[in-house]
Amino acid sequence: MSKKRMLSGITTTGQMTLGNYIGAMRNFVSLQDEFEMFVFVANLHGITAPIEKEILRKNIKNMVTLYFACGMDPEKSTVFIQSEVLEHTQLAWILTCNTTIGELQRMTQFKDKSTKVKSDNGTEFIPTGLLTYPVLMAADILLYDPEFVPVGKDQKQHIELARNIAERMNNKFGEMFTIPGEYTPKIGSKIMDLQDPTKKMSKSATNKKGFIALLDDINEVKNKIKSAVTDSENIIKYDPETKPGVSNLLTIYSALKNISIEETEKFFEGKDYGFLKEEVSIVVVELLEKIQTRFNELSKTDDVDNWLEQGAKKAQQIARKKLTKVQNLTGLNYKRK
Ligand code: AQP
Repeated sequence: MSKKRMLSGITTTGQMTLGNYIGAMRNFVSLQDEFEMFVFVANLHGITAPIEKEILRKNIKNMVTLYFACGMDPEKSTVFIQSEVLEHTQLAWILTCNTTIGELQRMTQFKDKSTKVKSDNGTEFIPTGLLTYPVLMAADILLYDPEFVPVGKDQKQHIELARNIAERMNNKFGEMFTIPGEYTPKIGSKIMDLQDPTKKMSKSATNKKGFIALLDDINEVKNKIKSAVTDSENIIKYDPETKPGVSNLLTIYSALKNISIEETEKFFEGKDYGFLKEEVSIVVVELLEKIQTRFNELSKTDDVDNWLEQGAKKAQQIARKKLTKVQNLTGLNYKRK
């Protein structure tokens, strides 16, 4: 029986964080045997807000190398850079013409993010891409007919939009897209900011002490965990409402040790915050050292470039076929019905 297809990606707005790793990357790696995985580096989404070109280049290079350093297997999965498969933007335009402005303005991420973007000189600047990127996301998905897309809570609305657009176009022009289903990872931990544990850990956060990047210097990582915000009780208990900082450290520990929160609480029973931070530091450092060693090895070879070329070729074959079908059915290709 052929494997079901799944598709996902990570944006290049910054360096891959421990949050991205626990919430997404390691799931992609473990799903490779069960699913036919299409995983891309979402560099077109990485320019939705202004970004310096040198930083963008570095983010893309580090992100692609990290995909493989974290365990993506080019023999099992199709790994590629979004902008290298031109069909993504071509389909996005056709979908944009079949999406209403109201649908996009209702996206909560647009409402949240559009208040934060500022231009280089500090004046308000809301790029159109911030409004329309969910349509590009729909194109990313619909090009490949995946049965499943892994979704975090904050992405649910975007997947729904992709489904709505697909249904609308299937009804209007004839069957062209598979309606993607949602896949909720078995371990769906949300990792929080170390300095403000009521906020999600994000790679584009301005306070670098709030997130751990997989390529951070190891001593810096230890210091970030040491200075993570907790509370004054000195009682280790999982309670995200009243103890968000301590709960976040427990989540990280349980995720990386692959044990339940209950087992984690038991392990730390009667211990103090110093011990908790020390133990979290040990598991995080062990993971990062392993990934960084592989990252450094890969950086000395051409393997990543070769694997990406192979991935883009395979992705493009599928994407090309789908785009042609859409062009035929919508009348863009005048020679075909
Ligand atoms: N803190 C997190 N905990 C668990 N999972 C997370 N993900 C992101 N942050 C956490 C998951 O990582 C995948 C890729 O996310 P993305 O880069 O496409 O966008 P994002 O969710 O907006 O990630 P960031 O790091 O917060 O980026 P910026 O700062 O650019 O907004 C997704 O599967 C996401 O669930």
